Amino acid sequence: MSKYVFYFLMPVLVPLMVLTLPDSWKRTKRKRTLLAVYGAAAVLSFTAMISAAGFVRGTVERLVLDYGALFFFTVTVSAIVVSLLRYLLAYICIQLHAWSAVETLHSNRGYAVAVALCAAFILGVGSSHFSGCRVMTYDVNLTDGTSEHPSQCTVALLSDIHLGAGAGDALVDRICAQTAELRPDLVCIDGDLVDMMTLQEDLDSFADKISRLSPKYGVIYVEGNHEKDSDLDCRAALEKRGILCLYDEAVVLKNGLAVAGRRDAHEVPVPEILSAVSVPEDAPAVVLSHRPSDLTEMSDHPYLVLCGHTHGYQIPIFGLINPYLSDLPYGYRAFGRMRAVTSAGAAAWGFRIKWPSYNEICLVRVVF
Ligand SMILES: [Fe+2]
Repeated sequence: MSKYVFYFLMPVLVPLMVLTLPDSWKRTKRKRTLLAVYGAAAVLSFTAMISAAGFVRGTVERLVLDYGALFFFTVTVSAIVVSLLRYLLAYICIQLHAWSAVETLHSNRGYAVAVALCAAFILGVGSSHFSGCRVMTYDVNLTDGTSEHPSQCTVALLSDIHLGAGAGDALVDRICAQTAELRPDLVCIDGDLVDMMTLQEDLDSFADKISRLSPKYGVIYVEGNHEKDSDLDCRAALEKRGILCLYDEAVVLKNGLAVAGRRDAHEVPVPEILSAVSVPEDAPAVVLSHRPSDLTEMSDHPYLVLCGHTHGYQIPIFGLINPYLSDLPYGYRAFGRMRAVTSAGAAAWGFRIKWPSYNEICLVRVVF
C-alpha cells in the first residue's frame, strides 16, 4: 500500500474512531479528559505515520511505525469492530423487545472491556503470526499429460519481505534458514523486497545472506509496487551478489524451464517477454508477477504465475477488500491452462502484526 493512501486513510480513521465512542463519554470532565487523551493519541499516531513516510529514518522511524501499528491496528480496529457489533446486537435486541439487554449494551465499562479484549487479541495473535514463517507447499503440474518424461523443479517463493521495518535481522535470518532447509532448486523473490523504510545496509545484508544459499538454478528477483517508494538501487545490490533481476525479461534455466519476471506496471504481455528468449507461446513457464492481477489474460497458456502483494488478509478489516483488488487474494487457483499461487508474504509492510494470515514461504513443486 502506498504511503499516499495513508495520507488519506488516517484522517478518515481518526474521526471514525472518535465517533465510535459512546456519547456519554463526552459529558463528564473525567471522560472528556479520557477523550482528549484518546484524540491526542490518534493525532500523534497519525503524525507518526506521516513522519515514518519519509521524514525520519532508521530506529526512530521503526519506533513510530510500531506505535502506529499498536494504536491503529489494535485500538482503532477494535473500537470499530466492537461498535459495529454493538449496533448490530442493539438492533436485534430492540426487534426482540429485550430492553434490559439493550441497556447492558450501552454500558461504557462493557464497551471499554470489549475493546481492550479485542485489542489484546489482535496484538497477541497478530504478533505471534508475524514472529515466525510457516511453509506452504503446492504441487503444480504444467504438462497436459502427454509428456513421457516430465521434469520437476522446486521453487521457493519469497514475497513482500519489506526489509527493515517489515523484516528485521532476526526474521531475515529465519527466512533464509528455513529456505535453506527446504533445499529448493530455485529461489524467487517476488517483489516488495524494499520499501520507503529500507536502509542500504538492510538490503546489502539480505542480499549477502540469500545469495549464500546457492540453489541449483540460482535466485531470481522481480520488483513489486513498493520498490518505487525507495531510493535504493535493488538491481545493483542484488546483481553484485549474482542474483538475477528480471524487469519484463525472461530466462531459460539449465533444466529448460523458462522464467519470466513482470514489472509492476504489467505493461508488457507475458508471451512477448518470453518470446524475447525464444520461448514458444505454448511452452510451460514460471511467471513472477508481484500483483495477482491480470491473471485471466494468461489462461490460455501453461504458465505457473507466482504472486504476493496482498499479504494474505494481513490487516483486520482492511484485508477484506483484497478480493476486490486482485484475481487471487491468497492461495492456489487454476485459470484455464494457467495455474497461480499467491503468497501471504514472508513479512509485511510497516506493521509487525499479521492476522488472520501468517508470514509464509511457499514451496512450489512444479512438474513441466
Ligand atoms: Fe507488500
